[in-house]
Amino acid sequence: MSVKISMTVNGKSVSHDVESRTLLVHYLRDTLRLTGSHVGCDTSSCGACTVQMDGVAVKSCSILAAQADGSVITTIEGLSDGENLHPLQEGFKECHGLQCGFCTPGMIMCSVDLLKNNPKPTEEEIRHALEGNFCRCTGYHNIVRAVQYAAEKM
Ligand code: FES
Ligand code: FES
Repeated sequence: MSVKISMTVNGKSVSHDVESRTLLVHYLRDTLRLTGSHVGCDTSSCGACTVQMDGVAVKSCSILAAQADGSVITTIEGLSDGENLHPLQEGFKECHGLQCGFCTPGMIMCSVDLLKNNPKPTEEEIRHALEGNFCRCTGYHNIVRAVQYAAEKM
C-alpha cells in the first residue's frame, strides 16, 4: 500500500507517494538522494542514520517515512550554512574525529542535539550522549575532542 507524505527536508518542501513500509532513512537516501545518512546495521543500534526530526535527533532507520509526514527534517547535508561548515563539522575536521567517516554524519547530528540542550558538556556527558552511535575506527577519543571544540566555538 502506498501513502502520500509531505515534509520539509533541509528547508525544502518535498512530497512523494511511498510504500507504507518505507523507512525514513531509505526515503532520504533513495528517493531524495541525500546519502549522507548511512545505514550501518539492521538493529537500530549503530546511529549512522541519525537525523534531526522536529529538532530532535532520531535514528531514521527506526522511523517509517509515513511517521515523519508533516515534520521538519535536517540531515547532515542541511547542517552547514552555505559554504561555512557547522562548528561540529569543523571540529571533526580539526580534531581528526573521523577515519573512514561512515559514522560521522550520525555522530554530528546526535551532537547537534547534545549541544543544543547542554552547550558546555563534560567529557562524560559527551560520551553518554553518543552512546547510541558506534565508531569502528577512532576509539572515540578524537570524537569527544571534536565535540568539545564545537562547544567552545558555539
Ligand atoms: S542504521 Fe540506524 S541505527 Fe544503524
Ligand atoms: S570513522 Fe570509521 S566508523 Fe567512525
